[in-house]
Amino acid sequence: MASKPAEILPILIAPDPVLKAPARPVATEDNDAIRVLLPRMFATMYRAPGIGLAAPQVGIGLRVAVIDLMPDEKPQPFALINPEIIAVSTELATREEGCLSLPKQYADVTRPAMVKVRYLDAHGARQEIEADGLLATCLQHEIDHLNGVLFVDHISALKRNMIMRRLAKDMRVLREEAAGR
Ligand code: NI
Repeated sequence: MASKPAEILPILIAPDPVLKAPARPVATEDNDAIRVLLPRMFATMYRAPGIGLAAPQVGIGLRVAVIDLMPDEKPQPFALINPEIIAVSTELATREEGCLSLPKQYADVTRPAMVKVRYLDAHGARQEIEADGLLATCLQHEIDHLNGVLFVDHISALKRNMIMRRLAKDMRVLREEAAGR
């Protein structure tokens, strides 16, 4: 019997207030909801397409994120439940970031180059991961989402305002185009 494809969820666009609200930790009673949510989050992320997605971006205030950097174009999905950064390097790295909640907007963000993250996987098993490079950036970006923080919160107010204005304009054009059809 073929399983039916997971439902694609609408992605909230900044400045939606849900994106600024800290998410709550997942508890045992959330298990059934998580079992349904994870495949939907992966499907939504792959469809976008993106390399990471946090539950608040689909309007769910739980500490859940999914990541897949697709190394060598092969899927390598990670589900992170209640992830916590437990160590960071003093060395910093700057990388251009984007976000599915700020479509087509990019900025250089400086963060610790290496992080150690503790989390529960999709089976509820405790995991620890040490990452550098793109994965380190992605882990920090997704965990930020669970704390109501966006990548633009790490840049100057001047650059942030420029991006938010550009995004608002893009969204207005899209709405007008949709209305005019
Ligand atoms: Ni993001």
